This record gives sequence, C-alpha cells and structure tokens, in this order.
Amino acid sequence: MHTINTATVVGAGYMGGGIAQVLALHGFTVRIADVDTAATHEALKRLEKEAREFEDQGLFEPGSAKTIMDNLTAGDSLEDAVADADFVMEAVFEDPEVKKEVLARICASARPDAIIGTNTSTIPVKVLVGAVTNPERFLTVHFSNPAPFIPGVELVAGEATSQEAIDSVKDLLARAGREGAQVADTPGMALNRLQYALLKEATLIVEQGVASVEDVDTIVRTTFGFRLGFFGPFAIADQAGLPVYAKGFTTLENAFGDRMATPKLLVDAVAAGREGTKNGKGLTGDFDDDTKAALIAYRNNAYSRMGDLLRELGPAPKGT
Ligand SMILES: NC(=O)c1ccc[n+]([C@@H]2O[C@H](COP(=O)([O-])OP(=O)(O)OC[C@H]3O[C@@H](n4cnc5c(N)ncnc54)[C@H](O)[C@@H]3O)[C@@H](O)[C@H]2O)c1
Repeated sequence: MHTINTATVVGAGYMGGGIAQVLALHGFTVRIADVDTAATHEALKRLEKEAREFEDQGLFEPGSAKTIMDNLTAGDSLEDAVADADFVMEAVFEDPEVKKEVLARICASARPDAIIGTNTSTIPVKVLVGAVTNPERFLTVHFSNPAPFIPGVELVAGEATSQEAIDSVKDLLARAGREGAQVADTPGMALNRLQYALLKEATLIVEQGVASVEDVDTIVRTTFGFRLGFFGPFAIADQAGLPVYAKGFTTLENAFGDRMATPKLLVDAVAAGREGTKNGKGLTGDFDDDTKAALIAYRNNAYSRMGDLLRELGPAPKGT
C-alpha cells in the first residue's frame, strides 16, 4: 500500500472544494486546480472564507481554518498542480468527455504511481478508464455533498484497479475521518440507484395524487428517514421483523405488480426461519440476547437524541 500524504483536487467547484477542505483539515498537503489560474485562485479564496465561516459557526473546531489554509494551496496550472501528488482527485463536470480529457491531462503530468480518483456520481469506471494510463491506479472515490460534513464515500474499482490502490484510498479516507464502502462498477453505483429509486417512487406518489410534495417530505423525514442516519434498510428490516416485511411486499405486489414483489433474499430468509432481531436471526447477522438488548438500547438512545437535535434546530427554511 502507498501511504498518501499529498493530494491534488482537479475541479475546485462545489464538490472538489469540499473534498480539498476535508483533506487539508485532516493534515494532508493539498493543491487545487480549476480551469485556469484565475479560477483556481478564486476557488482558494472562497474555500478560505467558507472555512472561517464554518469555524465561526462552530461547525469546525477552533483553529481549523488556519490548518486548512496552511495545508491548501493553488496550482498555477493543472499540470503543475498534479506533478508531485500521491493522489489526484478529479472533480470536474459530470460529462464523460470532459472527464476523459481532464484524466488524460492528469496522467500526462502526474507521477506514474500516483493514484487517481474520480468523484463521478454515476459514470462507470469502465467508461472513463480508457483515458487513464496505468489503469491499476484508477478508481471512483465518490464523496457526497456537502463533502465537509457527509462522512460516507462510495468506492468503485474497475476491472484493472489494484487492491493496493483501493487500500491506499481506504487508508486516506480513514485518516480523513471518512467511511468508505466499495460497490461494483455499474451505472449509478449503489448510492444513486437507492436515492433515485426513492425520488422516483416519491414522484409517482405525488403524480398519482396519493400525497403532496410537502406531505411526502414530512413522512420521509419524520418516519423511516429519521432512522436512516443510524441504520440502513437491511438493519431496519431486521428490527421490524422479516415476516412482517415479506407480508408487506405481498400487499404491494398485489397492487403494483412484479416490481414490488417480495425479493428472493427476503423470501429465502423467512423460509429458513430468519425473522430478524426478534428471533436473533437477521439479514445483517445473528444476535444473541446481550447484543439484541444493546442494539435496542442504542436505537432508542439514537432516536431520542435525534428528536432532541431536530427540536433544537427547528424546521429547515422553506421556499415559497
Ligand atoms: N453536486 C453534488 O451534489 C455532487 C455530489 C457527488 C458527486 N458529484 C460529482 O462531482 C463532480 C463535480 O460536481 P460539482 O457539483 O462539484 O460541479 P461544479 O460545477 O460545482 O464544479 C466543477 C468544477 O470543475 C471545473 N472544471 C471544469 N472543467 C475543468 C477542466 N477542464 N479543468 C479543471 N477544472 C475544470 C469547473 O470550473 C468547476 O469549478 C461531478 O462529477 C458530480 O457528478 C456532485
């Protein structure tokens, strides 16, 4: 594994800027490069101002803005910025042709062993990899917006990506206080397939007159969305009880057809006597009585404190 200490972010917009801040805050030496020198220096100024505001608002620890600015510099050109970096992160527009052109330029100037990541939210590695020399060092490193505050990062290895490159990036993410999860190289990966599936169904619900936009948002954020900061869908199904979920799918299948049929994973689990945490046999694992009690205590504490936080913050500002 190569230990990454220096990183360059190419494309210092919304995401690239946030990623540069996160890495600089956690002690990496970071350079940014945007379309030209003026845009890069503009971005550096914006990031400095933003870091100060985050610190003033108590969102960053005292001293964070100084740490960020001590570790963050602007490259005079893309070529100059990537030349010595251990890791180069591409975060330009979500357009395969623009990304390929930028990746080719990065490869022409970066060290042959520099690891190269793309922040694409939807484009498979296999579509972009042709633009990269030494493809074993290339992978998707998909931060979420706003990068300074969202801890999860989706990783996608292509066919050629080496385990060494993946391990180096996982190590970087851990040192930057981020949690990486690796998924297969398919369009939309896991994050956006899930996110878009929810938006698609929410849109259908509105179009069919089942609920208004406002009521859908209220239901999501006050019920199952409330849980999602702590548990994913499999852990939630385990806690609800797998037979209940299987039966729920039957109702949905009868109404909406095949697309809502009980998934095979769930049918098989129930047939094998797995009922979730209730009987200690779930989709996420087996639970003895002590673990079950600890999980329930964690869950109740998490939801209670989430309720406190929401009451403290009050409702989010709304558009008119
Ligand atoms: N916005 C989001 O919520 C989000 C979330 C996750 C991932 N992403 C992904 O991150 C990437 C960037 O998105 P964004 O929202 O930050 O876009 P953005 O428009 O804010 O930033 C893109 C930046 O790339 C720069 N750029 C364009 N061409 C360039 C070039 N040839 N050389 C150097 N810089 C160049 C632009 O000047 C701009 O500053 C996309 O791939 C997007 O899909 C976005």
